[in-house]
Amino acid sequence: MKKTLRWVALWVLSCLPWLPAYAQMSSGAPDGGGHPWWQHAVFYEIYPRSFADSNNDGVGDLRGIAAKLDYLKDLGVDAIWISPCFPSPQVDFGYDVSDYENIDPMYGTLADFDFLASEAKKRDIHIILDFVVNHTSDQHKWFLDSKSSRTSPYRDWYIWRDGKGPGQPPNNWVSTFGGSAWKFDPTTDQYYYHFFYPEQPDLNWRNPAVKDAMFDVTRWWYKRGVSGFRLDAVDTLFEDPNLKDNPIRKPGKNAFGDPFEENKYNGKLPEVHDVLRGLRQVANEYDAVLIGETWTADVAELNQYYGKGNNELQLPMDFLFTMVNKLSPAEFRKQIAAVDAASGWPTFVISNHDIVRSYDRYGDGKHNDQIAKLMAALYLTLRGTPIMYYGEEIGMKTTPPTRQEDVKDPIGRKGWPKEKGRDGERTPMQWDDSENAGFTKGTPWLPVPPTYKTHNVADESKEPDSILEFYKSVLKLRHTNSALLNGDYKAINESNTNVLSYLRVYQDQAVVVSLNMTDTPQNIDLELKPNGFTSASGLLATGKSAAKGDQVSLEPYGVFIGELHK
Ligand code: GLC
Repeated sequence: MKKTLRWVALWVLSCLPWLPAYAQMSSGAPDGGGHPWWQHAVFYEIYPRSFADSNNDGVGDLRGIAAKLDYLKDLGVDAIWISPCFPSPQVDFGYDVSDYENIDPMYGTLADFDFLASEAKKRDIHIILDFVVNHTSDQHKWFLDSKSSRTSPYRDWYIWRDGKGPGQPPNNWVSTFGGSAWKFDPTTDQYYYHFFYPEQPDLNWRNPAVKDAMFDVTRWWYKRGVSGFRLDAVDTLFEDPNLKDNPIRKPGKNAFGDPFEENKYNGKLPEVHDVLRGLRQVANEYDAVLIGETWTADVAELNQYYGKGNNELQLPMDFLFTMVNKLSPAEFRKQIAAVDAASGWPTFVISNHDIVRSYDRYGDGKHNDQIAKLMAALYLTLRGTPIMYYGEEIGMKTTPPTRQEDVKDPIGRKGWPKEKGRDGERTPMQWDDSENAGFTKGTPWLPVPPTYKTHNVADESKEPDSILEFYKSVLKLRHTNSALLNGDYKAINESNTNVLSYLRVYQDQAVVVSLNMTDTPQNIDLELKPNGFTSASGLLATGKSAAKGDQVSLEPYGVFIGELHK
């Protein structure tokens, strides 16, 4: 099985008791169809280091993003989520924040942010920032004060404990990035807790002052025009105050040489939901959206993140969907049906900066471009909000480093060769076929993959059959077709093991989507009569895939999206 995210397994196995699903309620200013803005918006994740470099220092920046807003608008993007661009020592490439209310000079200035925000607003593009809530950088002023003495004002903003004995950490918890989750600090003779790197100390969310300060950070950005946050690593906000040892899940060692622990006492504690409810109340004051990095074991657990009466996250990501790591109609059907019946609005993702790109997870090495279109047709036509990942729309390929000395991601440096890290899915955006793919005139911080010669924005914009043009067509349809905007999801042909087909039904209109997940041609029955329709006509299809009467013929990995008629 291809690995998607390295620490996912920890979550999948650490289940919390089931909580009932609650009736769906939406919030935020509804559009004409009664949907809050974020339900019809298409989101797009930008890894700022790698998107567009305006000053040619080899690292992308905010002015670079601003220069590409027309591209994003034309593609069909309504909201951009920018991975952390705040001041940071960059130990975890921005996920170690040393000041929540500023911009790292490598990405620009607050004035550049304001420029980006105003340019985005002109184009009706919302800006979502990445809020690293679990931990700060060890260079944040709060932590610098906290570590300075046992009685310093910020001491209790982090989690400090005595060891069990000389050289022995307080308990057996291991960091998800390898080694003990406790680091001894000789200045005060105590250990501090870090779920991620030692340079990322966990905040103590049991301290009300932490909560107040972090809630104020969100207000500060909302006032600056931000439309919401993607909340990083929410699962790990709280720890058992008694610091009980975690149980060991299975014998053996992981890629970092650590035991396979179940995060029973340091993951998904019920107190997380109090914080999410609080953040949501603030978000509601600004009609903002909260997206969650929520690694859930099942949909019951996902429902907990929507909250009672939908009072927590509007968009907790359904990573179970990304874990269907093969083109299996049965598995997708099962997962889609489960999330479609969830207590909140579904959120679909197929790639991000932590997981192997969908192009490689689903590609068979021969038909990857067709499969990339098939995956686009799938998650962009479901009922729910999709979050794209930069470069997915041109078929960017995961390109991991081949030599240990080239690895930038510390988990790759530590885990090599078993764990090569996440550089492969973070390579520079491929804009054209000039040197460095038009990303920079300097030396890019990560090498540009060789595929930039065949897969880049400039060339694909001229090629009607390209992955990019297909994405644009699907997104256009999704923004204009009322069945795709508002329709219910209804599976058809449920016993077909080769083709995934479903309807989106809205009042008396319906759209059918049929996706051939095999390398051989397939014919399917559209089940028109039982659903009250008599014929179908094509809206968008790949190759020669087409409807004839109540049948659809699909070419290998073919896509057919059609309209049904009464
Ligand atoms: C989240 C981010 C990941 C980061 C980690 C620690 O999982 O997506 O990139 O390394 O949090 O902040």
